Parts: sequence; structure tokens; C-alpha cells
Amino acid sequence: MGKVLTVGNPLLRKVSKNVENIQEILPFIEELFNTMTEEDGVGIAAPQYGYNINLFIMYSKSNSRYPDAPESEPIILINPKIIEHSEETEYGLEGCLSVPKMRGLVKRYKWLKVQYTDINGNIIEDTFQGFIARIFQHEYDHLLGLLYIDKVEKHEDLFFL
Ligand code: NI
Repeated sequence: MGKVLTVGNPLLRKVSKNVENIQEILPFIEELFNTMTEEDGVGIAAPQYGYNINLFIMYSKSNSRYPDAPESEPIILINPKIIEHSEETEYGLEGCLSVPKMRGLVKRYKWLKVQYTDINGNIIEDTFQGFIARIFQHEYDHLLGLLYIDKVEKHEDLFFL
């Protein structure tokens, strides 16, 4: 099993490129998925593995790192885009496998309308809200070379575990 890159690695700061050939990345998707579940993540993005491609996985479920996470099926999102978002924002705690032993309070949109390609090549439109919309925004930021710690507004909003 590969290793998740941590803050300081320049590959986490690159802007990712669109996926052209889904078949080619299927083994990588499986590896990403396995790492996410082993590490108790509720999401993981390809750049965290050193692949700067527009791909992430969301899998909201209660685990040791996020005991209050809502249950959902895993979703693999290729070339995701935000089509529309709420005016309203809310603060919530986030962590990241690439930023070990920390949590931070981050402001995110309450809901999003998004589009992405699934692993069968279908274009999917969906709406996410609350914690799942938060996961989407966190993972989407990874594709832009951003980390949640960039969006923590005050010192006091960053917590060491
Ligand atoms: Ni992250």
C-alpha cells in the first residue's frame, strides 16, 4: 500500500489535470479507495497520492476519526465541477490525511450542485448538502492545490490532536 503525501510535499500544491482515460486509472482508484478506508478517511483525492489528476473519492461513514459522519455509499468522482452553490455558508471541523494530527474550523457552502464523470464514463449531476457537501469542497480543493489549513481563518480555529 502506498503512502499518503503530507503537507510540505509540492505535489499537494499543484493544479490537477483532467482524466482522459478512465480504464487506465482503475487500479489506482482501487488503491486510493483501500488507503482511504484503512486510514479512516471520509474522502481522498488523487494528488494526496502524488497523482495530479482530477479524481477523488467520498465515503461518508461513522469511523474513529469522524464518529458523527452520516452514512453514505462511496462515490468516485472523475473530473468534478461545481455548477451551483448555496449563498449560505457554515463552519465545521475538518481534518485531512495529508495534515496529520490536526483539525480546523473551515467555512464551506451549505449545499452544492455538482457534475462529474463516474467510472463507467457517465456524466452525473448531483446535489450534496451538509457534511457531504463539505467533503466535496475539501477534496475539490485538493485538485486545485489547496489544503483546508489555507482556509482556517484564525489561530484559535486550528486544533492539535
Ligand atoms: Ni484532505
